[in-house]
Amino acid sequence: MIQGFHASKHREAVMEKYDVIVIGAGPGGYVAAIRCAQLGLKTAVVESWIDEQGQPALGGTCLNVGCIPSKALLDSSHHFHQTRHDLAAHGIDVENVTIDVSRMIARKQDIVKTLTNGIAMLFVKHKITWLKGRARFAADRTVEVIPNHHQGHAASIQADHIIIATGSVPAELPFAAVDQDRIVDSTGALAFSRVPESLVVIGGGVIGLELGSVWSRLGAKVTVLIRGETFLPRVEPSVAQAALRTLTEQGLDIRTRAVPTALKKTARSVTVSCQTPEGQTDIETEKVLVAIGRKPNSQDLNLGSQGVTLDERGFIVVDQHCRTSNPRIFAIGDVVRGPMLAHKASEEGIAVAELIAGHAGHVNYRTIPWVIYTHPEIAWVGQTSTELRQAGIPFKQGTFPFKANGRARSLGCIDDHVTIVSHEQTDEILGVHIIGPCASELIAEAVLAMEYRATAEDLARTVHAHPTLSEALHEAALAVDKRPIHL
Ligand code: FAD
Ligand code: NAI
Repeated sequence: MIQGFHASKHREAVMEKYDVIVIGAGPGGYVAAIRCAQLGLKTAVVESWIDEQGQPALGGTCLNVGCIPSKALLDSSHHFHQTRHDLAAHGIDVENVTIDVSRMIARKQDIVKTLTNGIAMLFVKHKITWLKGRARFAADRTVEVIPNHHQGHAASIQADHIIIATGSVPAELPFAAVDQDRIVDSTGALAFSRVPESLVVIGGGVIGLELGSVWSRLGAKVTVLIRGETFLPRVEPSVAQAALRTLTEQGLDIRTRAVPTALKKTARSVTVSCQTPEGQTDIETEKVLVAIGRKPNSQDLNLGSQGVTLDERGFIVVDQHCRTSNPRIFAIGDVVRGPMLAHKASEEGIAVAELIAGHAGHVNYRTIPWVIYTHPEIAWVGQTSTELRQAGIPFKQGTFPFKANGRARSLGCIDDHVTIVSHEQTDEILGVHIIGPCASELIAEAVLAMEYRATAEDLARTVHAHPTLSEALHEAALAVDKRPIHL
């Protein structure tokens, strides 16, 4: 019997009907499905992912080839680098430190498998139907499921509401075809079998810096090519400058105004031709990582049949509630406007599930935190001083360096800082920018403060434990009013 159909007493196939069908089980789709089920909605998820072992898997880009595996490798490579370079200062001498890349990769895969299996268990717990295959719209609110090769069953299912959460895929360069061997995208760079001697990263964004750091820490000579003039242009300038300094000290060769124009593969290497202000340069490298952004995964869904429109870059057009031009179809996560972040996708998933169930659901796009998991970490929420200046919004700002923070000193992280910007008149916090130890955790306090529309004075009057890194946030808030204690 075709899955999704059951035989009626007249032996005719009856199409399985759900309250909600979710297409895609990344952090947008699987979270939306769980919330729908919690709200009593009969929910099915269609997911086509096949993992490295050839098995169907939930979790999407984030769990399989994104957030989680990259953080696992960042952690392993940090331990290696620290053991080699930083432990001596603690009086710990370790000789002959080596890395077994295959064990490092196996650990990463283990973490991924545990987490993706965990989502499958949550689906069972919440009685969510998982259809393994590729979804495509057929008639009105009907979805066909095309099974993965030899796995799953063909199905045709229907629902009152459909949530599209099909995510994104790496953008490509026309002259740099990815072969996942010498020219790789982020997925390939998470699975090298040994440390390459050299790696050229095209694109100095989040993936370029995170995965560039991984292989640089393990010993590869990493060159990062950035076509623009500014390093991390969307980041608070003082934070971007500090990051450039530190990452360069760590060995990354970061070149701005370097535009790759051609790639040539030879038997053992790749030559990257690059246009720079000084003229044309050729860089010979063992591997190339193309990390120039990601594009929405909106093709092949037959969206036109449902009256769902795309913008010129392929993103599904949605309103502030993630509703598409078809009022019964929603779209969330990387496939729609806004930052391509897992937590943004998940929050949209929850909001949409609540709207479908007749509740109020919303996402506060002003307070979505960003983190770059380099060492030190970079994290921010809200607007930068550059954006405020451009928008003509009057602001004041306070900065506190970690070198004046006792806990940071004991961790040996002293080149870093916290900057808080608040409105000149109302003092409402408009942005918080951190480069420093545990910035990914510290930013949560700033997000909460902004969610409650706190002022810098509110943060300044909040008691922070001593000695903690969070005292740097406290002091930066005091610095907004020019009264830091330890500076
Ligand atoms: P996805 O996670 O892309 O999931 C979409 C799912 O839909 C996929 O499983 C796909 O198989 C499925 N699908 C697509 N089309 C169909 C179809 N027709 N039928 C059935 N299934 C379909 N974000 C962070 O917030 N923090 C990080 O640290 C972070 N690190 C990252 C590191 C890397 C290397 C990469 C590449 C990304 C990283 N991201 C990170 C971004 C994050 O992974 C994405 O923002 C997030 O996964 C988007 O979630 P999503 O649910 O919209 O889509
Ligand atoms: P990105 O947008 O962060 O950076 C892309 C870089 O490539 C930029 O420097 C850009 O100028 C450059 N570029 C674009 N087109 C180019 C071209 N044709 N030639 C040369 N350079 C070009 O994208 P990235 O790093 O690929 O990551 C994709 C997304 O994945 C991120 O935007 C982010 O949303 C998500 N992500 C999030 C992480 C996190 O939250 N820690 C980690 C990794 C990815």
